[in-house]
Amino acid sequence: MATAKNGGLERVLVLEVARVTEVAAIAAARWRGKGQNKAADKAAVDAMRQELGRVHIRGKVVIGEGEMDEAPMLYIGEKVGVGDGPEVDIAVDPLEGTTICAKDMPNALAVLAISEAGGMLHAPDIYMDKIAIGPGYPAGIISLDDTPSKNVERLAKAKGVPVSEITACVLDRPRHEKLIAELRSLGAGVRLIPDGDIAGVIWTTDPGQTGVDIYLGSGGAPEGVLAAAALKCIGGQIQGRLLPENDEQVRRVVEMGQKNPRRIFSLEEMVSGDVIFSASGVTDGSLMSGVHFRGDFAETETVVMRAKTGTVRRIKTSFRNIGSKMQGL
Ligand code: FBP
Repeated sequence: MATAKNGGLERVLVLEVARVTEVAAIAAARWRGKGQNKAADKAAVDAMRQELGRVHIRGKVVIGEGEMDEAPMLYIGEKVGVGDGPEVDIAVDPLEGTTICAKDMPNALAVLAISEAGGMLHAPDIYMDKIAIGPGYPAGIISLDDTPSKNVERLAKAKGVPVSEITACVLDRPRHEKLIAELRSLGAGVRLIPDGDIAGVIWTTDPGQTGVDIYLGSGGAPEGVLAAAALKCIGGQIQGRLLPENDEQVRRVVEMGQKNPRRIFSLEEMVSGDVIFSASGVTDGSLMSGVHFRGDFAETETVVMRAKTGTVRRIKTSFRNIGSKMQGL
């Protein structure tokens, strides 16, 4: 049985998926501020994998921690879950913002999305050019084929504001210097982020709260697919174009089923059918709080949502007697 009787993923999976990101967030949170990116990531990966092993699914990782030969766990193609439930595809980013976590800065997340089998783009860990806006705009007002200026001008027109009232979120990277200069010369605002572009894309869904209207620039392709999964649930538009940098990366893209490695993917081409997206805060952030340890308690905050219904749940959980082990959560 791949889906629920009335179509889509079985809704009980919503809580299961939330539990997985909660556990990964707690594990990573123990490494906040320790300056050890790899250890923090490993803790999140181990916890996520262990918890996924308790979920009644026949899951296959399609967005993971790397290919089988380079990642010991949650590698692309790895089978996860108890093995007796619906067949699903899984995209994981156990610790989105490893550097943010290592420096104990805002907006590190544990993220997971689950779709019906075949519902998510298989993307290797290479760069992707991205553009995203939130819900409420006419279809097709953003395009990676157009300049950033054209996109921002069209967005401002659709929003009914001058360009000076549009803010774009961009990763603070030397490769984005030209993009940032173009946006500023246009008069738009630029919100620079040190890392964490899944959150950057999600911010566009509530500009009144976050102050971000559009996401622009390149980041990880896995994060692009995960962000698309979030927008599939909340609404919004996103486009992504893989950016293979050498023959080896082109080969990996083609091996994953893409004949044209440089084509543009729409939201529906990145994520189709029903999907459940969950993100738990590791460090405090503007989307949600991070993990708070209080004696023997750990408190988490999670946003979990489902595309089929468009339901967005914000779950605050208090775990008791967590001690030093992660077992029995
Ligand atoms: P990690 O958690 O793997 O460190 O990724 C953080 C991140 O900022 C992503 O959000 C983003 O997509 C990617 O890195 C950008 O890559 P780069 O740091 O190479 O510009």
